Amino acid sequence: MHQILNMNFELSEEHLMIQQAARDFARTELLPGVIERDNEQRFPAEQIKKLGELGFLGMMVDPKWGGSGMDSVSYVLAMEEISKVDASASVVMSVNNSLVCWGLETYGSEEQKEKFLKPLASGQIHGGFCLSEPEAGSDATSQRTTAVDMGDHYLVNGTKNWITNGKSGSTFLVMAQTDVEKGHRGINCLIVTSDMEGFTVGKKEDKLGIRGSDTHSLMFQDMKVPKANRIGEDGFGFKFAMKVLSGGRIGIASQALGIASGAYELALQYSKERKAFGTEIMNHQAIQFKLADMATRIEAARLFCLKAAWLKDNDEEYLEAASMAKLFASETAMWVTVEAVQIHGGYGYVKEYHVERLMRDAKITQIYEGTSEIQRVVIARSLLKD
Ligand code: CAA
Repeated sequence: MHQILNMNFELSEEHLMIQQAARDFARTELLPGVIERDNEQRFPAEQIKKLGELGFLGMMVDPKWGGSGMDSVSYVLAMEEISKVDASASVVMSVNNSLVCWGLETYGSEEQKEKFLKPLASGQIHGGFCLSEPEAGSDATSQRTTAVDMGDHYLVNGTKNWITNGKSGSTFLVMAQTDVEKGHRGINCLIVTSDMEGFTVGKKEDKLGIRGSDTHSLMFQDMKVPKANRIGEDGFGFKFAMKVLSGGRIGIASQALGIASGAYELALQYSKERKAFGTEIMNHQAIQFKLADMATRIEAARLFCLKAAWLKDNDEEYLEAASMAKLFASETAMWVTVEAVQIHGGYGYVKEYHVERLMRDAKITQIYEGTSEIQRVVIARSLLKD
C-alpha cells in the first residue's frame, strides 16, 4: 500500500479555477431542467456540447491531440462539481475522459490519435466503451462478441449491453474475441464508428437513475473493422480494458463523491430552513449526528479520490487506490443519499426536491465500471499478491 509522505492538501490556483469553472457550469447550465430531463429520460445534448467547448471532455489529453492537458486531480475536482448537480451529464464526461480518451492516448497509434482521439478530446463528438455483454458483466473475460481475422480487417459479430452514450456517441472501443483457444489473451480492442455497416443501436434502457444518459445495447452484424483500428498488439484487448478501467474507476469514484456531496449540501441547507418542534431541525441532535457522519464519510471519500488521482499523475501504481476510492465513494454515495432523503422527510420522497434523484443516481456507482464486489476482488488480490 502506498504511503504519501509529502502531504500537501492545498489546491493550486489552477485547481481552484477549474473547480470553480465546473461549479459555475453545473449551476448555470445543468441545474435548470435537470429534474425534467430525468423524468423524460432526455439526453443533455446541448449541455454536453458546452462541456466539450469548455474542454471538459478531454481534460487529461495533451493539447496536441485536442485535449486540455490537465491532470487527474483537476478531473476529480471537476467530476465532483458536475456530479453534485447532474450525474447523467457526468457519466458522459467520465466515460469519454477516462475510458475512451485516456485509452486512445495511452495505447493508440499516432494515426489512431489523429483520426479518432482529436475529435473526441476536443468535444466535437463523444464515445463509448463496449466490454459488457448479456452474459459478460463482472465476468468480463467471457466475451461472446467475435472479431474474426480476415487479413486486412476483422469481421465483428455480437451484442454489447448497457453501453453509456450508446446512441449519442459515435466512436466506440469494442472488446471482441478473436481466438477462443487463447481465452482472454485472444481478445482484441477495436475502434468502431457508428457509421460502419452492420452497426445497429439497440433498445434504450429505462433506468432507475442517471436517466438523462443514453444507455443502449449495440448490435454488430458482419461489421468490417479495418485492422488499423485495433489497439495494440494482437490479443492485447483484455489487458487494455483492465488498464483503462483502473483509471475509469477514479472517474466513477469522483462521480459518487459528487452525488454524495450534492445530497449533503441540500440536506444541510434544508435542515437550516425546516422547523420542527419549535426550532430549525439542525438544532436537533438526531439531525446533527447524521450531518456529522455524512460530512465525515464524504471527506474520506474525497481524500481517497484525490490520492488515487495524485498517484496516477505521479506515475505511481494506482490500481488498488482507484478500487478503494471507487468502493468507498460509491458506498458513501448510497448511504449519504438515503440519509439526505431521511432528513428531508416527506419532501425528500418527491421529485421536486433533488435528493430522491440523487439517491436513485447513487445506486449505479456501486454497479458500473466494476461492482463493489469486483472492487473488493481487485483490492484483495493486490493485498495478497506480495
Ligand atoms: N491491468 C493489467 N492486466 C490486468 C489487470 C490490470 N488491472 N487486471 C487483470 N489483468 C490481466 C491479468 O494479469 C490476466 O492476464 P495474464 O493471464 O496474462 O496474467 C488477465 O488480465 C485476466 O485476469 P484475471 O485472471 O485476474 O481475470 P479474472 O476473470 O479472474 O478477473 C476481473 C478479472 C478483475 C474480475 C475483471 O473481469 C473485472 O474487472 N471485471 C469487472 C468488469 C468491469 O469493470 N466492467 C465495467 C464495464 S465498463 C462500464 O461500466 C462503463 C460505463 O458505461 C460506465
